[in-house]
Amino acid sequence: MHQNRTSAQRYIVPPRSNHPHHPVSAIMCSALWNSTHGEIKTNNNDKKSNMNQLDMQGRHAVVTGGANGLGFAIVTRMLESGAGVTLWDRDADALNKAANELRTRFGSEVINTDVVDVTNHPDVARAAKALATTGIDIAVNAAGGAGPNMPLWEYPVDAWQQVMSVNINGTFNVCREVVPLMKPKNYGRIVNIASVAGKEGNPNASAYSASKAAVIGLTKSLGKELASSGIAVNCVTPAAVRTPIFSQMSPEHIQFMLSKIPMARFGLPEEIAAMVCWLCTEDCSFSTGAVFDMSGGRATY
Ligand SMILES: NC(=O)c1ccc[n+]([C@@H]2O[C@H](COP(=O)([O-])OP(=O)(O)OC[C@H]3O[C@@H](n4cnc5c(N)ncnc54)[C@H](O)[C@@H]3O)[C@@H](O)[C@H]2O)c1
Repeated sequence: MHQNRTSAQRYIVPPRSNHPHHPVSAIMCSALWNSTHGEIKTNNNDKKSNMNQLDMQGRHAVVTGGANGLGFAIVTRMLESGAGVTLWDRDADALNKAANELRTRFGSEVINTDVVDVTNHPDVARAAKALATTGIDIAVNAAGGAGPNMPLWEYPVDAWQQVMSVNINGTFNVCREVVPLMKPKNYGRIVNIASVAGKEGNPNASAYSASKAAVIGLTKSLGKELASSGIAVNCVTPAAVRTPIFSQMSPEHIQFMLSKIPMARFGLPEEIAAMVCWLCTEDCSFSTGAVFDMSGGRATY
C-alpha cells in the first residue's frame, strides 16, 4: 500500500519527522534474542525471512520498556523497517546494553536513549520535551510489570500499587505527554501493550489483570477522543511470551498461562513486534480504540 503513493495521497499524510534514517536492510538479520533479551536462543531465520517489509522510513518512534523483552523486539523491527527510535527505560544498564547492540547493527544516528521512569510524570514530561529534536510520530507503551502471583486477599498492598503504577499510570503519563506533540501534525500512531489477562482475568494475578483491563479502557477512550485527528490509538493483548518478565512470576503461573493457549506454545517476541509495528504504520488507517488479539487462540472475543 505504501509503495503505491496514489492511495496514500488520498489521506493527506503530513511530512515525516526530520530524523536521519538508516537505509532499510533488504536482509532480515538473524535473531538478536540472547540471554540478555528474553533468554530465548531462537535463530528463527526462516520466520524472519518470511516477514513482510514494513515501511517506517522517515518516522520517529518512542518505545517505553525498550531495553528488554517485547519493547526490544519492537524497537528492532522498527529499525529494520527504517524508523528512528528513542528507547525509554528506567533500567540504565539494560538500556546501554540494548542501545550498544542496536547501534552495531543499525548505526548510532537512528537510536536515542533516555533513562525514564514512566511512573514519574515530571520525568516523562521532561523526556517528551527532549523529543523536539527528532519529532515523534509513534509511541509504544511496552514498559510494564507483572507483580507476584497470589490470591487478592493475600496480595501485598505495595505490590498492587507498583503494578498499577507502571502498567496504567505509566501508560497514562506517556500518552498525556506525547499526544500534544502529535496533534499539530495531525498524525500519530500509539500502541499500548495490554494483555489477554486484561480481557479474561488470570487467577493469582489480580493487579496485573486489573491494570491491563484499565489499559484496554484507556485505549478505547483515547482512541475515540482522537478519532478525527489522524492519530490512531490501539492496543494489543498478547498471551504469554517468554521474556525477562517471567522472572516475576511463579512457575505454576507460567504453566497455567501456557495451558490456556490452544496453539500449545508461547508467543515469540518477534510475533508481537510484527503486529505492533504494523499498527504503527500508515496502513493501519481505519482502526482506532481497538484491541488486537495475539493469544495463540486463547481469546474468544
Ligand atoms: N511477556 C509476556 O508474556 C507478556 C504478555 C502480555 C503482555 N505483556 C506486556 O508487555 C509489556 C512488555 O513486557 P515484557 O515481557 O517485554 O517485560 P520485560 O520485563 O521483559 O521488559 C519490561 C521493560 O520495561 C521496563 N520498565 C519497567 N518498569 C518501568 C518504568 N517504571 N519505567 C520505565 N521502564 C520500565 C523494564 O526495565 C524492562 O526493560 C508489559 O507491559 C507486559 O505487561 C507481556
